[in-house]
Amino acid sequence: MAAFDMEKSAKPSLPRLTNVMERRRAPLAGSDEVILADILKTHEALAAALAILAAGGIVAVPTETVYGLAGDATDGVAVARIFEAKGRPHFNPLIAHVADMAMAEGLAEFDVVSRRLADAFWPGPLTLVLPLKPGSAIHPLVTAGLATVALRMPGGFAHELIAAFGRPLAAPSANSSGRITATTAQAVAADLGDRLELIVDGGRAPVGVESTIVKVEPDGVRVLRPGGIAADEIEQAAGVTLLRGAAEGIQAPGMLASHYAPGAAVRPNAAEVRPGEALLAFGPARIEGAAHAVATLNLSETGDLREAAANLFSFMAELDRSGAVCIAVEPIPNEGLGEAINDRLARAAAPRDSGVGEP
Ligand code: TXA
Ligand code: MG
Repeated sequence: MAAFDMEKSAKPSLPRLTNVMERRRAPLAGSDEVILADILKTHEALAAALAILAAGGIVAVPTETVYGLAGDATDGVAVARIFEAKGRPHFNPLIAHVADMAMAEGLAEFDVVSRRLADAFWPGPLTLVLPLKPGSAIHPLVTAGLATVALRMPGGFAHELIAAFGRPLAAPSANSSGRITATTAQAVAADLGDRLELIVDGGRAPVGVESTIVKVEPDGVRVLRPGGIAADEIEQAAGVTLLRGAAEGIQAPGMLASHYAPGAAVRPNAAEVRPGEALLAFGPARIEGAAHAVATLNLSETGDLREAAANLFSFMAELDRSGAVCIAVEPIPNEGLGEAINDRLARAAAPRDSGVGEP
């Protein structure tokens, strides 16, 4: 396509970005074949990618493993856009990508072994799960409310982009939910081209599979997801025992019913607020008894599902701290990001040991 229009994207506001997308989509309603995103080679894409990221938008970028769908990891609405574009029916925690150790250490607490692994494999296909640093700039939607964050330092264009942006980028693999992981810009375009403004083309991703995800534990280093770096290479560099065999159970914490468990009970789709309850509201209208809620937070006054997704984890935690026995949640439409929000609420509402909400 024609060169990226910098005039248009120099400082676009969020609503303007949406309008651009709608205008592009309109004449193509009914077709899912046509590619709408601009595709730029890495050497010509940096300024355009930065402009979109600075406006809270998302960009598909090459990394050495697979293509990623990147947005500002400190901006909840940008992260909500990632989930929206992927069409994920649930909020899995995402990897936050960093440019250097200073950025990484501002976000998470490094133990000695994790630092050794970062020294050995970064930039590269290794992701480290680490405790969040107090006051970390990572938005809670990136970690799905967990106290840990998955960090990776990629190489190449992604590295250059993060360094120039100066903030971490959340980036899951650039494929829609249930589709195969993309290792070329053309594969991203075929899958997500109608939902993106820009795909950066860096050729075929050299590694071709996702990063290896590890977590350093007191007894050794646990592989949570096998990937681009072999487990025995990791064991050698870490100098500690490799923990095998337990990966399945904790591979995808976003899928676990209990992974975010507020102390208060959660009552989704509530028709009224009962005595002693806090209220997680949504939209302009209140349910019965709202005036008597112990505490109230509104996920989005205007009923915007992106804003609601961005607020979900921090608001649940804040209402939990109010000491209410239960959090009543107003009905949230089960469309777009509403599906992932309702999935998360159902998991938070499930009895911790029931297995309800497991995949
Ligand atoms: O190579 C890669 O890792 C690619 C490129 C784009 O960097 N990214 C990628 O992201 O594969 P994604 O979102 O598709 O996979 C992230 C995985 C998920 O399985 C998620 O459960 C896990 O990382 N994860 C994220 N945060 C975690 C955490 N705090 N604890 C444990 N697992 C976590
Ligand atoms: Mg993936």
